[in-house]
Amino acid sequence: MAAISSLKGMVCAAVTAAVVVGGAAGPLAAAPGPGPVPGSTGSGDSLFPQAGNGGYDAQRYRVVLDYRRDGSISASTRLTARARHPLSSFSLDLEGLRVERVRVDGREATFRRHGHELVITPVRPVRGAFAARVAYHGTPHSHTDPDGSSEGWIATADGATTVNEPVGAMTWFPDNDTPRDKARYTFAVTAPSRRAVVANGILVDRSRHGARTTWTWRQGEPMASYLAMISIGDYRVFRSTMRTVAGRRLPVWSFVERSLGPQRGARHLVPRIVRWEERRFGAYPFDSTGMVAHELSVGYALETQDRPVYPGGPGVGVLVHELAHQWYGDSVTPRDWGDIWLNEGFATYAEWLWTAAHGGDSTRATFRALYRQNGPKSDLWKPAPAALSDPADLFGPAYLRGAMTLQVLRQRVGTDHFFDILRSWARLRRHGGASTHGFIGLSERISGDRLHRMFRRWLYTPARPRGY
Ligand code: TRP
Ligand code: ZN
Repeated sequence: MAAISSLKGMVCAAVTAAVVVGGAAGPLAAAPGPGPVPGSTGSGDSLFPQAGNGGYDAQRYRVVLDYRRDGSISASTRLTARARHPLSSFSLDLEGLRVERVRVDGREATFRRHGHELVITPVRPVRGAFAARVAYHGTPHSHTDPDGSSEGWIATADGATTVNEPVGAMTWFPDNDTPRDKARYTFAVTAPSRRAVVANGILVDRSRHGARTTWTWRQGEPMASYLAMISIGDYRVFRSTMRTVAGRRLPVWSFVERSLGPQRGARHLVPRIVRWEERRFGAYPFDSTGMVAHELSVGYALETQDRPVYPGGPGVGVLVHELAHQWYGDSVTPRDWGDIWLNEGFATYAEWLWTAAHGGDSTRATFRALYRQNGPKSDLWKPAPAALSDPADLFGPAYLRGAMTLQVLRQRVGTDHFFDILRSWARLRRHGGASTHGFIGLSERISGDRLHRMFRRWLYTPARPRGY
């Protein structure tokens, strides 16, 4: 469908151009058919327009990576994808590292690199389904965000961990680095046998060949590349199973850096929190869970799919937050970084809900305290959470003002409608993409109220909404 409609678009554009230039409209049949064109080297995202690429849909990645003790890697990534229209060339995102060769559908392809763009020209244009394999090696480096934080490949004393949000995936594998193109993943990582390797999903194989061991993990549900995670370290590995609220058996894999102790408290909270969140947000969207706790210099936790990464031993608040992201962010993923409040506002609100359910302030009291403590001049009100224009603000207003927006929605539509909206959002957009616009529409449909004005004041206006 997508391919047909974009072809139509191109034919129309060609006809329109002919009208303007020639002054006379030729019959449709005479318009030249669209030939293969290069795929664009950007996604058009409002905050990270150069990350991600156009012209194709990624279906599956297979990342085969050999990690050496000196911190270098030798790797290959195989991408299977579907071209949206015939492509004479297309690009992937890859920062640093040395590319050895690229094959497209088994045949050697030429490639160029500028900046983080890896532009691939196959011998013949690709149409429909195709596969690209990139072989590469080198020492990966982290990427520095506009806000100064580090992401992507993070080297540690005992190995490395990847935390990719928003555009760090390109530091260790070539990808379509945008949340609008989710795909399925396999990671086959080889490391010294005395290290453990964790990634997203299910461990499907572990084979030892002497001093080195290959761990193969599979993520069978769609995943945005910013949620892809591998970690190599001196881990204690804990394997158990839990029951979801619906009675489904869920494997729990937790990897805890040896120096942190067994983290019993935090590990045992994971199943409890997952079930508690299921009762509020609906069925847990994935096939496994757990945690990765590792001394990490980055200073933030990340909701890597199935199995969040925590820098050190996590407290209950951050566990609740990262696990809530499994519904809001990981399963239901904003298509544009400008809609990140759909992640952070929801995960922060989950923390408020947990506090309220465990003897702390009600969500209404948390809202009121924030509202009172932050007068009209406070930084809390600028910029507005869904009107970001500076990528350095990615991890800012989305959290508190995003959560406040949800509390305002709840007070407006009532608690029953509110939880119906949260659950429906998770169910209807499961494993998909989302936008603020879509959330407003759903809220209006479920509540039967007109909510545009309220959302405009809370999400789009850089000022403290009056009257609360
Ligand atoms: N998304 C993460 C969370 O809230 C936070 C995060 C990721 C972050 N990268 C960051 C925060 C960089 C600050 C800077 O769970
Ligand atoms: Zn978060």
